[in-house]
Amino acid sequence: MMTHILQATAEAGANIALTKYWGNADPQQRIPANDSISITLDRTRTVTTVAFRPDLPEDEILVDGKRLVGPAGERVSRHLGLFRERAGIAWRARVVSENNFPAGAGIAASASGFAALTLACAAALKLDLSPRELSCLARRGSGSAARSIFGGFVLLHTASRDEDAFAEPLYAPDWWEIWDLIAVVSRAEKAVPSGEGHGLAPTSPLHTARVARVAELNRQLLDALARRDFAALGEAAEQDALMMHAVMMTSRPSLLYWLPETVALMHWVQARRREGIPAYFTIDAGPNVHILTLPPYHEMLREELQTLPEVQEVIPCRPGTGARIIAESEK
Ligand code: PMV
Repeated sequence: MMTHILQATAEAGANIALTKYWGNADPQQRIPANDSISITLDRTRTVTTVAFRPDLPEDEILVDGKRLVGPAGERVSRHLGLFRERAGIAWRARVVSENNFPAGAGIAASASGFAALTLACAAALKLDLSPRELSCLARRGSGSAARSIFGGFVLLHTASRDEDAFAEPLYAPDWWEIWDLIAVVSRAEKAVPSGEGHGLAPTSPLHTARVARVAELNRQLLDALARRDFAALGEAAEQDALMMHAVMMTSRPSLLYWLPETVALMHWVQARRREGIPAYFTIDAGPNVHILTLPPYHEMLREELQTLPEVQEVIPCRPGTGARIIAESEK
C-alpha cells in the first residue's frame, strides 16, 4: 500500500540585525525584549524539505547531512509540534535542511533554518496562514527567524501577546544596496548558544539601559532608512552591537564571544572610517565581524579584508528576498 506523504520545500535567507534581539520579554513564547531591525541576506540561504508521514515512529532531522539529536533535535521537534497541533495531525516528519554557506562558518543558521522550516511545514500541511502568522510561528523556533520570513529591510516587534510579536517588511531588497561583508575569523561552534544567552541577559545590570536605548536607536534607524543616510544607520548599528556585547560580557556567568581577531577587525573598521571610508561593524553571538559598507567601497574592502591574517574567509552579502516555497506535493 502506498504511504500518504505531505511534503513541501522552502528556502529562506539568514539576516543581519542592525539593532539586536537579545533577551526575552516572554521566554516561553520567545517574545523579544525590544524591537529589532534587520537586513535579510542574499548569499546565506537555507533550503528545507519537510515530509509528514504516518509510518515514522519519530521525527528525523538532517542538517547538512548530519542527524540532529539532543536538545537541537528536540527544539526542531517542538517546532514541528506547533504545526501538528494546528493541522490536527499526529504524523511525525522527516526534515532535510541544507545551508549553502560553509558549514560551521559561525554564521547563525537558526534564522534562515526556522524561517524555511516554518514555511515548508505550513505548505506541507496546507495551513492557510498570513505572512504575519508565519512570522509569529517562525519566532517560536528562533526569534531572529521571524525577520527572515521577509526580504529586504525588516522590523520585528516586541509585544505582550504572541500574535502581536511579528515581523514586517519595511523596504524591499532593492531599496538600498548596502553590503554586509562577513569576515569569518573562527569556525568553532559557540560555547553558549544564543538560546541560552537570551536567558542570561536580565542578569546584566546593563540590560535595562540597553533596552531603553534601543528604542531611540530604532527611531534613528527608521529615519536613516527612509533618507538612505548611511552614517546614521552605521552609527546606530555599531552602537547596538557594542551595547549587546556589553550586556553579554556583564551577564552572570559572563559571555565573552570576542576573540583577539574580532577586536583587531573592530579597530581596522574604525581606522578605515577615519580615512573617510563608509564602513561600520556589527557582531552577533559569536566572534565573526560583519562589515557594513556601500558601493563602490565593498570591492576594495573585501580585497583588503582577504589579505588580513585574522580573516579566514569573507562572505559578501547584499539585501536578499524573503522566504519562499520551492515545491509542494501530496503523495
Ligand atoms: O534568533 P536567535 O535566538 O538566534 O537570536 C539572535 C541573536 C542575535 O543574532 C545575536 C541578534 C539578532 O537579533 O539576530
